[in-house]
Amino acid sequence: MLQETLEQGQVLTDAALDRLIPDETQHPQSIHKAMRHSVFAGGKRLRPVLCLEAGRMVAGSLPKKIEELGAALEMLHTYSLIHDDLPALDNDDLRRGRPTCHKVFGDAIAILAGDALQTQAYEVLARLQCPPEQRVRIVEEIARGTGTVEGMIGGQVADLEAEHTRPTAEMLEYIHRAKTAALIAASLVSGGLYAGASDSEVRKLRTFGRSIGLAFQIVDDVLDVTQTSEQLGKTAGKDTAAQKVTYPALFGIEESVRRADILVSKAFAELEGFGNRAERLKELARYLVERKN
Ligand code: IPE
Ligand code: IPE
Ligand code: MG
Ligand code: MG
Ligand code: MG
Repeated sequence: MLQETLEQGQVLTDAALDRLIPDETQHPQSIHKAMRHSVFAGGKRLRPVLCLEAGRMVAGSLPKKIEELGAALEMLHTYSLIHDDLPALDNDDLRRGRPTCHKVFGDAIAILAGDALQTQAYEVLARLQCPPEQRVRIVEEIARGTGTVEGMIGGQVADLEAEHTRPTAEMLEYIHRAKTAALIAASLVSGGLYAGASDSEVRKLRTFGRSIGLAFQIVDDVLDVTQTSEQLGKTAGKDTAAQKVTYPALFGIEESVRRADILVSKAFAELEGFGNRAERLKELARYLVERKN
């Protein structure tokens, strides 16, 4: 079922992205080419897939047009990757198996392509096919998850400022929860909201998302050490070279993997009330820690 879940989510998301991002022939062409270069480079689409499956779990079947919400999440994630790779941040040449956006289009267009994906995402969210009250809550949830207070941007700031320092376990956990887990939690919560989740269902999705999101970033750190650039589609060994604060650097690989496994197992308890309907999300959570890229 995992393969089917991933494939169905990826196909729906890619079709929505293709509809929602202006065509390459649209003036000014360079920005649309840059946006499409990074979006259609073959990402795993995990945030949209988690969003869709949260919606399916709450509603019992995939809510209509939920893939537009998934596409908006993927636009925001891709924007974060384009900016993460810039020379002023992680300075990476390779992303999703392709040269990074700034390598192909230059720094200025890459910065603007990130900005443009963020703007486009909110335009899409404004038009979501769900009741206005849910739509507003979704916008707030996603803005927070990508914002500066315990959100993605805050985490990116802390990540950069921690380079070359000897971090504490608390700092490291803050960075990972903010830069990565917050958007993953927002993906699950927004999918649930789209499907009309109750407050208690939202709370469960949020706690589940925070735990598997932290596990996901721990595994990202581990893969940076254990895989090749070819397997990852991005530069391996980058964290050590940049003296990043990572789980393997602080705890070693084995202990990092153990912590990720425990986080996922504990997260499963949050979904108990959903019974069999939680199976797909549980499979996805296991995949997040067992993946090899
Ligand atoms: C990479 O995310 C950046 C992190 C937050 C760790 P993914 O591993 O989901 O990257 P793509 O979307 O598949 O390229
Ligand atoms: C990035 O973390 C998290 C983002 C918010 C983009 P990393 O810097 O570890 O991501 P990769 O390894 O470059 O994908
Ligand atoms: Mg980074
Ligand atoms: Mg990086
Ligand atoms: Mg990384």
